[in-house]
Amino acid sequence: MLEAGCTYEIGGYVRLAEGEPASRVVITMQRTPVGGETKYDWIAPSAEKGVTDAGWVHLQGQYSYSGEVSELLLYVESPDAALVDFYIDDITITRLSGPQSEPTVQTDIPSVYETLSPYFVVGAAIEPDLLDEEQHTILLTRHFNSITPENAMKPGSIQPSEGEFRWEGADRLVQYARENGKAVHGHTLVWHQQAAEWMFKDSEGNLLEATPENKELVLQRLEAHIRAVVGRYKDDVQVWDVVNEVIDPGNSDCLRRSIWYDLTGMDYIVTAFRVADEVAPDAVLLINDYGTTEPRKRACLYNLVRDLRAQGVPVDGVGHQMHINIASPSAEVIEETILMFADLGIEQHITELDMSIYANDTESYTVVPENILIRQGKRYKAIFEVFKRQADHIQSVTFWGLADDHTWLKTFPVARLDLPLLFDEQLQAKPAYWGVVDPTKLP
Ligand code: XIL
Repeated sequence: MLEAGCTYEIGGYVRLAEGEPASRVVITMQRTPVGGETKYDWIAPSAEKGVTDAGWVHLQGQYSYSGEVSELLLYVESPDAALVDFYIDDITITRLSGPQSEPTVQTDIPSVYETLSPYFVVGAAIEPDLLDEEQHTILLTRHFNSITPENAMKPGSIQPSEGEFRWEGADRLVQYARENGKAVHGHTLVWHQQAAEWMFKDSEGNLLEATPENKELVLQRLEAHIRAVVGRYKDDVQVWDVVNEVIDPGNSDCLRRSIWYDLTGMDYIVTAFRVADEVAPDAVLLINDYGTTEPRKRACLYNLVRDLRAQGVPVDGVGHQMHINIASPSAEVIEETILMFADLGIEQHITELDMSIYANDTESYTVVPENILIRQGKRYKAIFEVFKRQADHIQSVTFWGLADDHTWLKTFPVARLDLPLLFDEQLQAKPAYWGVVDPTKLP
């Protein structure tokens, strides 16, 4: 009967049964968020020993909750150690206001992608259900001219079991892009996380052993997957993150020891590029990775791209994820990295840009100080100066999210408040936005 985002007044009368000792009585909401732990919200507590058997006491308080819930249970309790018997009467629930409407997008500020259109395409990673939110969709359409499915095209989402394709989410995003003239950056065809786990298992669900037959089998499965996914979207997706996070500078051959590697060596990489290129010869095919400014890792990536291209494997460029933070890496190191890869004559895309407000895994704010957000804006400014200066080498810059109300950094690497993007949780422009769009407006 209740709705999230509304404020209610909840009240009622209580009176203890004859002979019970004076006690506290509380009106409580037992609230179970979808997929979460049950919470107990106190709405209207009486004073300590505030209820007796001598007469009716009126309890009243305001209540609101946010988020999706699977159950709300209103009850009246005596929280003291000794359980007492009591009567209740005339329970009322009155809606005072709401539901609170979605915050409204600013219409008097420049568009991010239009401002940067002389330089590169500007994207945002989104989930399909963002398109259910009117104001979010308006913000997206105004400021970005490319989208990346944040999860909807990952193998585990799109082919969760063999031959069972779940196209709905990705189709919705592609449809939005078509209707609004936006580019689509496909993410991703191969990754060791959010993988289609069935590809590595036999019919009994046991992990495949590394044998020549099993190598054949998983490469066939990979090929069929790529033919289906790239084939379906070949008219809509211009750029693909073909393989994601395959580098590990800790190994002498620079390759991550993933299940793909265990079963196929580096053939999965070669197969993925060859098949994607065959199905979509005009698409730009990337190797995407994080930490690409780190000297050992970028040397590994550089060598891998160079060697694959020398062997005729159709690798068109690299994706720099660019999950950075308030302190590092420096703008100088980013520029040096772009220049280094420019030598290879390849495309470079910034594929997953966001800037955590924390420099380590342990800090956490409940309220983020304004000076941190200003510092973030200044750092965004410095980094976009580099991107613009090197725009000949950079084809697109995509943010890993639209606004701070939805970002993977609120759960990774730990659960905490993080505000890494250009728009705040109310969809309003932050100093980060001004750092990118018009740094003269930074304080
Ligand atoms: C993240 C998504 O943002 C989350 O919603 C999901 O739970 C985990 O994956 N590198 C990548 C992205 O290539 O696919 C990841 O996206 C973030 C790190």
